[in-house]
Amino acid sequence: MTARQAVTLGTVQETLLIPLYGRAVESRKPEPALRDPRAEAIVASIDYDFARFDGMPSLLGSVLRTALFDQWVSEFLTAHPDGTVVEIGTGLNTRYERTDNGRARWFELDLPDVMAVRRSFFADTPRRTSISASVTDPSWLDTVALTAPGPCFFAAEAVLPYLTEDEVHRVVDGIAERFPGSLLALDTTGPGMIDTQDEHDVLAKVEARMQWNCPAPAALTDWHGVASVLDSRTVAELPPPLCDRLPDSLREMLSGLAAQRLPQVEDYRLNLLRLR
Ligand SMILES: C[S@@+](CC[C@H](N)C(=O)[O-])C[C@H]1O[C@@H](n2cnc3c(N)ncnc32)[C@H](O)[C@@H]1O
Repeated sequence: MTARQAVTLGTVQETLLIPLYGRAVESRKPEPALRDPRAEAIVASIDYDFARFDGMPSLLGSVLRTALFDQWVSEFLTAHPDGTVVEIGTGLNTRYERTDNGRARWFELDLPDVMAVRRSFFADTPRRTSISASVTDPSWLDTVALTAPGPCFFAAEAVLPYLTEDEVHRVVDGIAERFPGSLLALDTTGPGMIDTQDEHDVLAKVEARMQWNCPAPAALTDWHGVASVLDSRTVAELPPPLCDRLPDSLREMLSGLAAQRLPQVEDYRLNLLRLR
């Protein structure tokens, strides 16, 4: 048996192991919402106490979030097969493996300690470039602009809530100035989630805490860089065709959850923005 790899990650960076494990667990189910054999293999090769997240409902929530971001990226690539996808705070996500069309240009950005781990699992290619940088350092925009054929889709999945509102504002306006008209997918957390993080099923098990409190994503259009909110929904209200693909039992569970209107569910939204 091969020795498992120890990973040394900063506090916020450690959170990437939660969606990674969520996808691996989901992928092993007989009727998964999403299949990710690569995540299964990576989890098996990393020396970390993943079992602390076992049975936590948020694991499934992270999988459904990923599945919706995948759908948005797939729709973008159908409309723009030669476009560019930029994964911001990519962690050990495998969206390229799930949605690449063989033509698009990809950039995957994360902090240096994450990229060091990521590069042991994923190699750069002429169409796939890793960027080791903070999203708050605007120099990464130059790297993307240098070789990115437009139009661009930016996916920031479970990343921006860990920044301050000022940082998020600068990041969003910076992308809009450099790539006007592009799409940006991001999640937002309102008070129902921000104020209960210490009791949150998986966040309570790590040190990282979210900072950006965004109670009303519709109000993001007040920001200089945001033209419109094209979609905004909770994980309990997934759109077709994604919802149609889910097993009946999961669809029923989600419609029951949506009906309860729990603050922790209502205040965590998945959003698709058109930048100005
Ligand atoms: C919850 S994980 C999500 C990872 C990935 N997007 C996914 O869905 O599997 C949060 C990620 O955001 C990254 N992150 C946090 N702050 C960042 C920053 N300032 N610049 C770049 N990445 C950042 C972390 O390193 C981590 O990989």
